[in-house]
Amino acid sequence: MKRKAEAAPSSKAEVPRWSFDDLTADLSAGLAQSKDVSLEQLSMQHFPLTSGLQERLREILAEVQHGTGAALLQMPTELLEQGEEAAQRAFLGLCAHLGRPVRQSTDLEELCARVEVATRPEVQAARHTSRRGYRNDKEQFLHNDSSIPAKRGEGVCDLLAMLCFRPAKRGGRTKMAAASAIHEVLQKDPEVLEALRQPLKYAATVEYHPDWRRPDAGEAPLVFADAAGRPCIQYSKNMVETISAAYADSSALEKVRAALTRLQEVCSNPSVVQHWDLEAGEAYLVDNYRWLHARTHFEDDASRRLFFRIWLQVPDFEQRFCLLRDWRVIYATCVEVGVVA
Ligand SMILES: [Fe+2]
Repeated sequence: MKRKAEAAPSSKAEVPRWSFDDLTADLSAGLAQSKDVSLEQLSMQHFPLTSGLQERLREILAEVQHGTGAALLQMPTELLEQGEEAAQRAFLGLCAHLGRPVRQSTDLEELCARVEVATRPEVQAARHTSRRGYRNDKEQFLHNDSSIPAKRGEGVCDLLAMLCFRPAKRGGRTKMAAASAIHEVLQKDPEVLEALRQPLKYAATVEYHPDWRRPDAGEAPLVFADAAGRPCIQYSKNMVETISAAYADSSALEKVRAALTRLQEVCSNPSVVQHWDLEAGEAYLVDNYRWLHARTHFEDDASRRLFFRIWLQVPDFEQRFCLLRDWRVIYATCVEVGVVA
């Protein structure tokens, strides 16, 4: 059956795809011009675009923002052959033109994070980052990413960009679920859906890191629609604990817990979970709230699984999330417990 243009893809094969193979020289020029800037300081000014790159990025952003919310990119093989740092720099340089890259950890200044098992000494020494979900090989539950308060100001993740530099020896499959598919399942249970659409309280005091506990925690729904009426989900597994704690002495506890349990079930339901096996050089860009993501457990060999991850704040995305601004800062603490990558 032919998929409607605006409908979420139901498999990787249906995701709109763009190759950069014909733009290797353009990317190499960006690499050369930004070579004296550290990855922690790299911004769009350091990585100038050619008209060819500009046009391609315009199409990709339109798809992610106004279309299906998902895009696949194929980076040139020649670029990957230049090594990890070149691929990381080119990916960050490109993505910096789609939105503002925001910091992903408190103790490492990551704008383009290495997603790999934490074996490097600087990561093992980083108390926060080393405990995060993207630094181990465990199975993950479907979730959204978010950003943390950063030294350059608080950032949020509107777009999630992930590049596969080297897949795992075994496992490490990318899991994806469209919020629209989750919403469709939830519609069969109107009472649960209504409960998830209500602003929910959050017990900030149960977060493990004291500095990130926010006694002034606000309220926000886990299921909502954006300005275009498209279903969005805000979910991570440990929210069940933090939200339930806020209702511990309330008569609403049973209803809230039942709704959270149902959402958790649906987010892992095989009918909504897709597997996108990414090969070296493939990247996905997704609207962080219209798509949930995760990955399966993996095993490495000597050449270890390595992905690069970028969180982009896009000005136009802010409008639809104005009601969630506070919540997203609160949600940021979820990344610390290791179940959110
Ligand atoms: Fe994640």
